[in-house]
Amino acid sequence: MPKITVDGKSIDAKERQMILQACIDAGHPVPHYCYHPGLSIPASCRICLVEVEGIPKLVPSCQTPVRDGMVVHSTSPKAVANQKAVMEYLLINHPLDCPVCDQAGECYLQDYSYVYGRTESRFEEAKAKKPKKDVGEHVLLYNDRCIMCTRCVRFTREISGQGELYVDGRGHKEEIDIFPGRPLNNKLSLNVVDLCPVGALLDKDFLFKQRVWLLKETPSISPVDSGGENIYLHHNEGIIYRVKPRYNADVNKWWISDDTRHSYKAVHEKSRLRRPMRVQYGTQVETTLTSALATADAELKRVHKESGDGSLYTMFSPMMACEEVWLLGKYVRSIDRGAVFVLGPVPTTGQDEVFTNPATGKETFRIKAEKVPNAAGVRRVMQLLGGPALTLDELSKSAKLKGGWIVGGYLSNWVTDQLKLPKGVKVVQDILPTKLSDTADVVLPAAAWAEKDGCWENFAGKIQVFQVAIAPPDGARREGDVYFKLLGRTGMYDAQSVREEMGEPFASVTIPAERGAEPAMEFVEL
Ligand code: SF4
Ligand code: FES
Repeated sequence: MPKITVDGKSIDAKERQMILQACIDAGHPVPHYCYHPGLSIPASCRICLVEVEGIPKLVPSCQTPVRDGMVVHSTSPKAVANQKAVMEYLLINHPLDCPVCDQAGECYLQDYSYVYGRTESRFEEAKAKKPKKDVGEHVLLYNDRCIMCTRCVRFTREISGQGELYVDGRGHKEEIDIFPGRPLNNKLSLNVVDLCPVGALLDKDFLFKQRVWLLKETPSISPVDSGGENIYLHHNEGIIYRVKPRYNADVNKWWISDDTRHSYKAVHEKSRLRRPMRVQYGTQVETTLTSALATADAELKRVHKESGDGSLYTMFSPMMACEEVWLLGKYVRSIDRGAVFVLGPVPTTGQDEVFTNPATGKETFRIKAEKVPNAAGVRRVMQLLGGPALTLDELSKSAKLKGGWIVGGYLSNWVTDQLKLPKGVKVVQDILPTKLSDTADVVLPAAAWAEKDGCWENFAGKIQVFQVAIAPPDGARREGDVYFKLLGRTGMYDAQSVREEMGEPFASVTIPAERGAEPAMEFVEL
């Protein structure tokens, strides 16, 4: 393993690694714009130039491989003079609109100008003005702010493979643009917004909604398909404003789909269920959670007493956390030892959408056709619980079943005409109203995934934890809390303790450390 010295600090690098990536891995700050670990290396912005002992000129650290014993200086007078020159050049035409720019607070140009920039501009001529452009369904381009790093262009060529973006013109007239009639509308389009180190590419959905320094960040998992993309939910005062990718080398790397980014909208749907209901004299009436739970419990016990073992069923949702499946299964089986378990509908859309790099033919990203996050996890926990299990088809034909606990939690209406449930008592726990909740004997407003803790298993068998970001709306309760109460357990629901109770492989699931992600900005006084 090569060892290099950077600014007097000894760093263990990997074979054939570039100096910059070795520094990033070691947490040593070297400024960079055009370099991104997930893209090809053009070495065009030139801010990462460093001095290497034995080489007479500055070299781009992003494109120069390490050699054992290499001595690198990124803070020497020569390297610093280059950093300042690059900053001065980039700021010549850059507008001073940080107060109204969405990127302010997470902008490389802003951050580096504090460290490497000049306090005053020597440029006296008029700044070049470039037009704003609507480049796609979700993306706006403020060309004035662009620093021509070409990360966005390389992404559309190398990862999404659609190549909608290109560099038009030369010199100070260079601009990013879309090819005529080919807007940036691929399903990974918003990754270019994350890649843009300045505020040139903007997410229309997030535009002017929040200052980024007000946002809190919670690690989570995408709820829109079985891919298990790792994400951060960015929220403030109980409202989610955006979804950003969380690096995971084994799952989604640096990228997420646009559907994942917009998944948070279901959480703030105006039609969310907020009031527990129970049927009184043939009509649904509003009630308290305590009374709704007491009614649900009493009704299921009555059905079991009247119809015996094997008369109850539980329809688990593939949106549920594994821990919730475990607890609900335990509860229903505590009433009816022969209760039947069923996995609810698993919507799919034909084939997986596969993205490839046209130059290499290699797969770069996959959007799964299975549009729920935890069908695999629910199947695994049903097996762990043991006992009778049916398919949806078998459930619809069963004459023995007289009462069921049905969980929804899907991000849109999931009750189709094909869904046939046995006649009898129905307790429905859901986040959005459906035909089923409209006619249920008891309705329990539930929490969306962003409002609770738990774990999901993706299509590849990877079990991943998501954490609570915001509180559920008034009147809704986290499923885990409800099941704890029904099982007579004291205290609040604690996902980790339930995972330990479930044993391996759940007991040891943790949130992975971010390896290979872009480093957080660190300031060094030069
Ligand atoms: S729009 Fe952003 S990502 Fe694209 S070249 Fe300009 S600065 Fe780079
Ligand atoms: S980061 Fe090395 S030249 Fe741009």
